[in-house]
Amino acid sequence: MVSPRSFTLKNILVLHGPNLNLLGEREPDIYGKMTLLELNSKLKDWATRQNVRLRIFQSNSEGDLLDWIHLNRKWAHGMVINPGALTHYSYALRDAIAAMSFPTIEVHLSDIKKREPFRRKSVIAPVCTKQFSGKGWRSYIAGLNDLNAHILFS
Ligand code: DQA
Repeated sequence: MVSPRSFTLKNILVLHGPNLNLLGEREPDIYGKMTLLELNSKLKDWATRQNVRLRIFQSNSEGDLLDWIHLNRKWAHGMVINPGALTHYSYALRDAIAAMSFPTIEVHLSDIKKREPFRRKSVIAPVCTKQFSGKGWRSYIAGLNDLNAHILFS
């Protein structure tokens, strides 16, 4: 039987963590020259093509990120998150993701497995369905595509 969700619009959260507001000027050798505004516009283009609704948010504050997830929990069917440095130590963020009934995909612009030792561990990964890392802004698109397929067929 086809799930009723297949006939309704899918709602996806996109969350950018600390320092990602500085994309374009922040360590461009590592993170690229694209600004957050430009990245978000790529994500919105993708959403229009896929007929998916996005809510996008960035904050430098861990508490604001948690509040935003909580606030949107009844609306969302899934989430793509780049937690920035919170990836490596935020058990509060991990708990928030684990508390949600929808799937979350972790994404990174850079390849965290090939960087400094402290970046190689993600405390978020165990509560995410997948991780896409090292593809620049395309990591987000890979995450969205995967999530979209997952929501459709779940
Ligand atoms: C990042 C990788 C993190 O280690 C770093 O703290 C970031 C960005 C990435 O997208 O490559 O802020 O999440």
